[in-house]
This record gives sequence, structure tokens and C-alpha cells, in this order.
Amino acid sequence: MSTVTDANETADLPVYPGERSARCPFDPPADYAKWREAEGLRRAVWNGHTVWVVSRIEDIKAAMTDPRVSADIVGRLQGEERGEGAPPIFPRMDDPEHARLRRMLTKDFTVKKVQAMRPRIQEMVDDFLDQMIAKGQPADIVRDFALPVPSFVISLLLGVPYADHELFQQYTSVMMSLHRPQEERTAASRALFGYLRELVARKEAEPGDDLISRLLGEHVANGDIDRDTVAMNGHLLLNAGHETTANMIALSTLFLLRHPDDLARIRDTDDPKVVSGAVEELLRHLSIVHSLVARVAVEDVEIGGRLVKAGEGLVMNLPAGNRDPEFLAEPDEFDIGRDVRGHVAFGHGTHQCIGQILARAELEIALPTLLRRLPDLQLAVVFEELRFRGDMSIYGVHELPVTW
Ligand code: HEM
Repeated sequence: MSTVTDANETADLPVYPGERSARCPFDPPADYAKWREAEGLRRAVWNGHTVWVVSRIEDIKAAMTDPRVSADIVGRLQGEERGEGAPPIFPRMDDPEHARLRRMLTKDFTVKKVQAMRPRIQEMVDDFLDQMIAKGQPADIVRDFALPVPSFVISLLLGVPYADHELFQQYTSVMMSLHRPQEERTAASRALFGYLRELVARKEAEPGDDLISRLLGEHVANGDIDRDTVAMNGHLLLNAGHETTANMIALSTLFLLRHPDDLARIRDTDDPKVVSGAVEELLRHLSIVHSLVARVAVEDVEIGGRLVKAGEGLVMNLPAGNRDPEFLAEPDEFDIGRDVRGHVAFGHGTHQCIGQILARAELEIALPTLLRRLPDLQLAVVFEELRFRGDMSIYGVHELPVTW
């Protein structure tokens, strides 16, 4: 079933994800528009494999809802990254097993649950800003604000001690790197799994008001899942829950610093709808998940007029899909006021992001609070010196030094 990667075959193919231009690192690489408009699906090399890159939004949605297209890419497009003894994760499974395992978590990500968390999120956003301000200028928005906020939120939800955040941030960062050797990524994943196994044992002895304790009480006790699956769910959520939101906070801050009129609209409004509209447009426009969403055809399937053969891989080009003129007029413009429902920044179909309501709440709180409390926020280095995360599966900026 595996896709053969033959050096000759891949010699002339572009590598996916491509490089964003240094002049405009908020836009997808220029080639993506050509791929989308001329070809729809085109071959490229992703993670060492020849795959089809899917760039039109309609094709992305078709691929992500077709039962002949599977999320189980481990051993086909992806090496075994979990490490020995770790159970599989549901994002790499298909329904009905995917849906069975996912359902056990949805209670913790509902509108009601997130609504109840908002005051606590606001409190911690203010606390992290107090600490950053007290430490003095310049500060690094990534290290001092964008990473701590989602790290704290996900720790609270899972019942992971926040004091351990440096440890799990370090593991996650190795796992998300596109260039680190597979063995290093596997070692980091295994270490994080070991940490969560110990935590699960502690929660079993002393349950708390958190997701891990709830899974143990509601689903391990009756045999739905075992303890290692609980630990692996913790692993998954720690991973998925903080790098994504952190990079959205940091890259959005930078984008707004470069677009002062939009920044002022978010800072000065007392209408929550303006903020939520702006967050949605930032999610679409920046499309930070540029490399992670991969699938494999389990039967021959036609997508966008191309035959994708059984065993061939597909990677969803979410940045290109979100800039598709068939989806939205003037897709390269940034326009806070417009309706961008139907964008694919959180994916599409049965695997669509489970944490999207929480992520939106974090962004809707973090961005205006930062801009209001530090109205004179500005870059502490020249723009050209910033290092962008073309080397990671989640795009963003490595550091964001600021003064205020
Ligand atoms: C899935 C994006 C925040 C947990 C996804 C997918 C995308 C995505 C594109 C689809 C992956 C696929 O189909 O292969 C984002 C973005 C975020 C964010 C842009 C922040 C701005 C979060 C948060 C959590 C989370 C805060 C949890 C606390 C997950 C999980 C999945 C997922 C568990 C897998 C769902 C499944 O396979 O059923 N996310 N995410 N994400 N996300 Fe998020």
C-alpha cells in the first residue's frame, strides 16, 4: 500500500509546503495560486513521499468527506511517531472507531463549557500580561504571551500541572518540526507519553475536576478504553491544543502591527461581533496549518477531475483553499467585516477541529486584551529580521520581540 518514493520520480517535483515569500510572509507561496487555478491536484513531495497536493477548496472538501479517502496514514505516508506501546490516536483513524473515541472528548469542548471557561481565560490573559509588563521591555510575545496562554488553558482542561509546561512545550516543538530526524521526533513523543502515563496513574489515585479524571471515571471504569488511551488522548490534546493557538496569537499580533487600521478596529470596538469576525478572517487569511492534514486513498477515487489511485497520498493545501476565488471574492484581501463561513482553517468533515470553539475564545480574549493594555505596542526589531516557521508543521513566527 505504501507510496514508493523514487529519487528519479521526485527529482523535478516541488516540496510541499513551499516557502512563503520574505516580502509577504502572511501570504501562501506564489506557486499555490498556479497549482489551484491550473491544475487543481498536483504532485509534490511531502514528508519524503510523492503525494497529490489538493489546492481548490471544493476538492479539499470533497477529499475530506469521501469514504474512499482515509486518515490512517501511519505506515503509509508517516513513520511510526508514537513510539512503542503507545496506542493509536483517533485523528489517524476512520469512522466508526474515530467517531466512537472522539465522542468521549466532545463534552469538554462544547459552546457551554467554553463559555464557562471565558472568565478564567480572561484572568490568565491578564496575569500573563502583568508578568510580561513587570519583566520589562523588550518582551517576546511568543515566549511571554502567545505560548503561555493556550498552554495554561489546555493544562487546566486536562488537569496537567502548569509547572510542567516547559517540558511539554519542548517535546511538542520537537514533534512539530519538519526537519528533525524521525528518531528524534519519536523519542520526544515517547517521552511525552511516559509523562502522561504517570499523570494518569496519579489521577486514578486522586481524581480532580478535569478531562483525564473524567475519562478514567466514565470510560476506563466500564471498559470503553484503557488507561494508555487516556494518556494518548492527553498527549494528542497537549500537542494539538497549544502550538496551533499560540502561533495564531503571535502571527495575528504581527499581522495587525503591520495593518494599523485593522488593529485599531479590534482595539477600539466594544462589539464582540467585530472581534469574532476579525478572528475568523485572521484564521482564514493566515492559514497556519500548512502541512499537517494528510490522507491516503484506500480505493481509486476521482477528485477534481484527477484519478487518485488506491495507496496514493493526498495533502490538503489549506492556505490555498482559503484563498480560492471560487470560495470568496478578493480572497487575498484582508477584510474584517465579511462573512468567511465555510473556510477550512479548522479542516472539514468528520475530523474538523474538536478544539475550534476553545481556540476562537482564546483568540477573541487574547488579541483585544493585548492591544488595549499595550496601545503603543510595536516591533522591537526590523521586520526583515523576524524568523518565520516555514520549517514547522504549524506556521507562525519563532520569536516576536516587542516594546510598548
Ligand atoms: C483537528 C486546526 C486548535 C484539537 C484539527 C484540524 C485542523 C485544526 C486543520 C484537522 C486535521 C485533519 O483533518 O487532519 C486548528 C487550529 C487551531 C486549533 C488552526 C487554533 C487556532 C485546537 C485546540 C485543540 C485542538 C485548542 C484542543 C484543545 C484538535 C484535535 C483534532 C484537531 C483533537 C483532531 C480531530 C479529529 O481527528 O477528529 N485542528 N486547531 N485544536 N484539532 Fe485543532
